[in-house]
Amino acid sequence: MTELTGKTALVVGASRSLGLALAREFAERGWQVVATVRGREPEALTELARTTGRVRVEHLDMTVPEQIGALAARLAGTPLDLLFVNAGITGEDRPVAEVPTEEFVEVMVTNALAPLRVVEGLGPLVVPTGTVAVMSSRQGSLTMNTRGGHEVYRASKSALNQLMRSYAARHHDDPRTLLLLHPGWVQTDLGGPGARLTVPESARGVADVVEKHAGEPGLQFLDHTDQVVPW
Ligand SMILES: NC(=O)c1ccc[n+]([C@@H]2O[C@H](COP(=O)([O-])OP(=O)(O)OC[C@H]3O[C@@H](n4cnc5c(N)ncnc54)[C@H](OP(=O)(O)O)[C@@H]3O)[C@@H](O)[C@H]2O)c1
Repeated sequence: MTELTGKTALVVGASRSLGLALAREFAERGWQVVATVRGREPEALTELARTTGRVRVEHLDMTVPEQIGALAARLAGTPLDLLFVNAGITGEDRPVAEVPTEEFVEVMVTNALAPLRVVEGLGPLVVPTGTVAVMSSRQGSLTMNTRGGHEVYRASKSALNQLMRSYAARHHDDPRTLLLLHPGWVQTDLGGPGARLTVPESARGVADVVEKHAGEPGLQFLDHTDQVVPW
């Protein structure tokens, strides 16, 4: 049995793919993990909770502000060493002017506004030596956008990055580590089957980066191999 680290992580969006793998990765590294799902609890997570004894499952649709407040109330008195907002969505890949307004709003709210609401609402549970991490994407990098494609998804991750920079600026004397992370191109429902990395490979890299940078105040945009991603 892995030695317990005494650390606790909250992973938002842990029903499947990268979020589930991150919950598994941290639990296997000896962390206690609070893993959130927005729908029914998937069997894989129930099984992970049973086999590790270190995973507690909670419910959160992060686009519903009342649910963020309710989760914060349920977790009151649970100090977090890591808040990891993993959840995100994409829409159909088409030029922006062809995207229905409802889809634009849904992607922007889910990928940019909701993560910051979670950071604001649940961030107070993170201890001063802790980390607030949000899953971004290299596709949110303005510098790296030389080919276009997935325009609204890209824009939502750029907006997420900008909002995290505003959050960091407002909390410039915050001792906590703030991370925007790119997990690589990963074989998930979102990344598609042709992606380069398997889910466990990516989750391992992302968890390594989180653990390596613990205790470093300020905001960084890093990928799963610990390389800086340009804004
Ligand atoms: N895969 C890649 O290549 C790649 C590359 C760069 C960045 N990323 C980012 O990495 C993160 C995870 O991606 P993935 O590939 O694992 O995606 P995925 O397979 O589509 O899984 C998305 C996860 O987010 C959850 N989620 C979506 N909307 C939510 C909401 N409103 N409230 C709570 N949970 C919600 C989903 O829950 P349900 O099961 O309920 O739908 C699911 O657990 C995303 O932020 C994505 O943008 C992925």
